Amino acid sequence: MMITRPLMFLVIFVTIMSCNSPKKEVTTKLDTFNVKAVLDVSVLKEKQVTKTLVSADSFPRNIDKGNKNWNFVDVKDWCSGFFPGALWFAYEYSGDESTKDQAAKFTLPIKTIAYTKADNHDIGFMVYGSYGNGYRLTGNKEYKEVLLAAADTLATLYNPKVGSILSWPSQMHKFKHNTIIDNMMNLELLFWAAKNGGSQDLYDIAKSHAEITMKHIVRKDSAVYHVGSFDENTGEFLRGYTHQGYADESMWARGQTWGIYGFSIAYRETGEQAFLDTAIKLTDHYINRLPEDKIPYWDFDDPKIPNAPKDASAAGVAACGMLELSTLVKDEKLKAKYYNAAVSYIKELSTDKYLSGDTNQALLLHSTGHYPNNSEIDVPIVYADYYFMEALVRLNKMQEAALK
Ligand code: GLY
Repeated sequence: MMITRPLMFLVIFVTIMSCNSPKKEVTTKLDTFNVKAVLDVSVLKEKQVTKTLVSADSFPRNIDKGNKNWNFVDVKDWCSGFFPGALWFAYEYSGDESTKDQAAKFTLPIKTIAYTKADNHDIGFMVYGSYGNGYRLTGNKEYKEVLLAAADTLATLYNPKVGSILSWPSQMHKFKHNTIIDNMMNLELLFWAAKNGGSQDLYDIAKSHAEITMKHIVRKDSAVYHVGSFDENTGEFLRGYTHQGYADESMWARGQTWGIYGFSIAYRETGEQAFLDTAIKLTDHYINRLPEDKIPYWDFDDPKIPNAPKDASAAGVAACGMLELSTLVKDEKLKAKYYNAAVSYIKELSTDKYLSGDTNQALLLHSTGHYPNNSEIDVPIVYADYYFMEALVRLNKMQEAALK
């Protein structure tokens, strides 16, 4: 083909413009936030606070407004595994033997949960956060046995007629067979067990549970219900509710982030494209609706916004979920989008506005547990610290891997 002069100029112009275009560089560039500085402070604080705690039979859960010290709960509380879990992350980063000993000390009493009749789906939070991290870091065979037993115990709540786990047996009177979005996080224990000597049924249960959640609890508006109610005999989906959110059809912040992280894990473990698509859909919707400082209000639809409380715990879960998601998507721009979004939450949580510093024994301020119940509003909560530590450690490992 003859290239005419005007055409040649056009080709040269387009080539120069595309080479100089800043757009591609900006959208794939990764944020280089110095996570080690925040990790050093956080790990030291966890170590110092833990030294002051006398018993490992009770577990930090929250701190009352204006108080300095943790309130404790017993092993049956759904939050029991988060404190030992945070200590395992602190040990993972520091290699400090005394932190490891403390993590092991707080992990041990949780064993009973694996061998007690299941009365909720939280077994995953309790046992995978403590024993799961402990096993990942130590390879201790006793930890593995407890994890396998815990997975079998959780699986007893599965109803094959519905295809999902009964999340809250105690709430059958209100919600019938109920499956809640939080339960997505506890599938990781089942996937892990199926790969590590447990029954293959555990994989099928986890996958089916994710499918039912995706079909009925993920809504058309790209938010999620907190609770899905099902007929326990026919499996028919009856309706969606909220329990901890503002309204049935509102977007409860932490619920959305359980979905983001939970579906990312479900995709990682199964390779089912629909789970990845769901994780992306929930994530994009969450990102698009965030307030300016990137830390969500407890519910995106509370009419009191901007005077509603924040939920730092949701930001921590979102950061972990999006770091995970950034490793799962293939497209470089999407990778950078989710990675940078996660880093922006970690950065904001690392400012004086959210870090507790000397204020109290927790790492983070400003989480909201159960607003409609008037409980744990705008206070430090242990799972915020757990997911913050996880996010910091994950980010550090990703940064170190990128330097190699
Ligand atoms: N899983 C209970 C909560 O997110 O508050």
